[in-house]
Amino acid sequence: MSQALLFVAGGLAALSGARWLRAWLLLSRAKHPSLRGHARIARRVAKLLPYYAYGDGEFFAADDAPADVAARRRAAFERLGEQFRRKAPRTLAAGAALEAGLADVDFVNHYRVPFQFRERVRSAFPLGVVAKATRGRHIQDLDGNWSLDVTGAYGVNVFGYDFYKGCIDRAGDRARTLGPVLGPYHEVVVDNVARIRRIARKDQVSFHMSGTEAVMQAVRLARYHTGRSHIVRFCGAYHGWWDGVQAGVGNPRPPHEVYTLADMTEASLDVLRTRSDIACVLINPLQAMHPNGNAPSDSMLVTGARSVGYDKHAYVRWLRRLRDVCTDRGIVLIFDEVFLGFRLAIGGAQEYFGVDADLVTYGKTIGGGLPIGVVAGRAGLMKRFRDDKPTDFCFARGTFNSHPYVMTAMNEFLQHLDWPEVQATYRGIDEQWDSRAAELNRRLAERRLPVRVANMVSVWATVFTQPSRYAWMFQYYLRAAGVTMSWVGSGRFLFSHDFTEADFAEFMERFVAAAEMMAADGWWWTSAQLTEKAIKRRVLRETVAVLFGRRPATPPEGEAAVPAPVVAPPAAARVEIPRPQVVSAPGPAAAR
Ligand SMILES: Cc1ncc(COP(=O)(O)O)c(C=O)c1O
Repeated sequence: MSQALLFVAGGLAALSGARWLRAWLLLSRAKHPSLRGHARIARRVAKLLPYYAYGDGEFFAADDAPADVAARRRAAFERLGEQFRRKAPRTLAAGAALEAGLADVDFVNHYRVPFQFRERVRSAFPLGVVAKATRGRHIQDLDGNWSLDVTGAYGVNVFGYDFYKGCIDRAGDRARTLGPVLGPYHEVVVDNVARIRRIARKDQVSFHMSGTEAVMQAVRLARYHTGRSHIVRFCGAYHGWWDGVQAGVGNPRPPHEVYTLADMTEASLDVLRTRSDIACVLINPLQAMHPNGNAPSDSMLVTGARSVGYDKHAYVRWLRRLRDVCTDRGIVLIFDEVFLGFRLAIGGAQEYFGVDADLVTYGKTIGGGLPIGVVAGRAGLMKRFRDDKPTDFCFARGTFNSHPYVMTAMNEFLQHLDWPEVQATYRGIDEQWDSRAAELNRRLAERRLPVRVANMVSVWATVFTQPSRYAWMFQYYLRAAGVTMSWVGSGRFLFSHDFTEADFAEFMERFVAAAEMMAADGWWWTSAQLTEKAIKRRVLRETVAVLFGRRPATPPEGEAAVPAPVVAPPAAARVEIPRPQVVSAPGPAAAR
């Protein structure tokens, strides 16, 4: 008898072991082979990777370019730096003051170019990250210089700055009588809820203060309703900076209960089909442009290679299959439309790709220029309590949710979507932006410049057609030509949809001129030996040498980068803030 029991127990153990092994194998197969697909290993490697900087000679000839080319580059580098400093002293001084005191600025300035070049670039090309005004598609710095703005305000600016200024002005007028009342809602919330329900084709909505918070709430609801622990996100996708979704390098606390799977692969669908612990799948449709890749930042341009492209049909096929698997398995499909939302279609990515999600998050532009996060979903998923279990609820609040000023600005934005002329701008949107990109690419090819653009509607990225150690320099040529980009640099241009043909012609001219200038200055010198593989090998050799102490991390005295000029904000850069006039409210004293 006891032998039979042992036999059964052994059989069950073997069976569960085999099941575990199969699940583990399926999960391993569904991870992207890069470090991005292996968050824990990536974090460990990141901790090992040593810093080192190129000295004077290497800085201009990291690709073994001949001395005359290196000299041309050096002269150009100095000329550009001088040009930046001369043109915008007040802006640069304000930027330097911010860099010292505002951690955000210090951080982003640290990650604009590959780190080997960083210190010299930082000191030679200080960036003016302070602006005074916008007008149309242009932005003005503190020194009065206007440039073409393709930052898209991190995705907020879909309809043009002038539109959002109007939203905020009118919102202030409409909210003023109520003021910053929180608790009782401004009446406009009724209309906002109705409109978002219609747009998202969902039963309920909730308001939050940022996109990150909206994602937090969507994930929390999915876990609450499914009773399952894990979320699936796809490699490279950004969903805000919350610990719970940000896997890999950049998050000191590894997220628990998150599977990071390879995007657009059958193996990932197999994981969804076979595991029973998955509550939800998070999709950021922006990844259609670079599946499994991070945001195409210039700081990653070690070899000049950037894999960006967009195949709408392939992505639609993927989303449909994902939708089917999630439906079959009772997994909540969440579209994180915080970034793309109303850029693609009035009904967002759901409408544009023709696939319905269970929960949708919006943010950025839907706030009409003010901070916002929104979740929309089926009633059953949005509900935060159970009728039959009074103490089993899913808590979510937030002091500033549904702030009257944000709600009235949002209402301005949502009403704008009703206008026939706005709706017309979405017709043929792919063709319009694709043809603009094609025209720019035609001009670049005609001039034999090793630069092209790839796009998903009005989200564009520069790609380079030859290996180079200096592709990251392009962002500075663009800046010199009067183009303002976000932190990511030439890897992401976000055009506002009020860009006219004339604006676009101006952009093309500046873009081509920047590329021509960069070519003339020798940065794209190349040789048969300068392959992507050779560059990677060289960087690996340098890294190993630093790790084992065979190469100094900082160049020897005399070889070092130019020390950063200490720029204190001049008196002129200090902003005089007018003192408010004190108006006494009519009270008993006034009545007397
Ligand atoms: C897809 C996506 N989700 C969430 C977020 C986070 O939004 P926020 O920065 O408002 O917190 C972002 C921000 O860029 C995003 O692109």
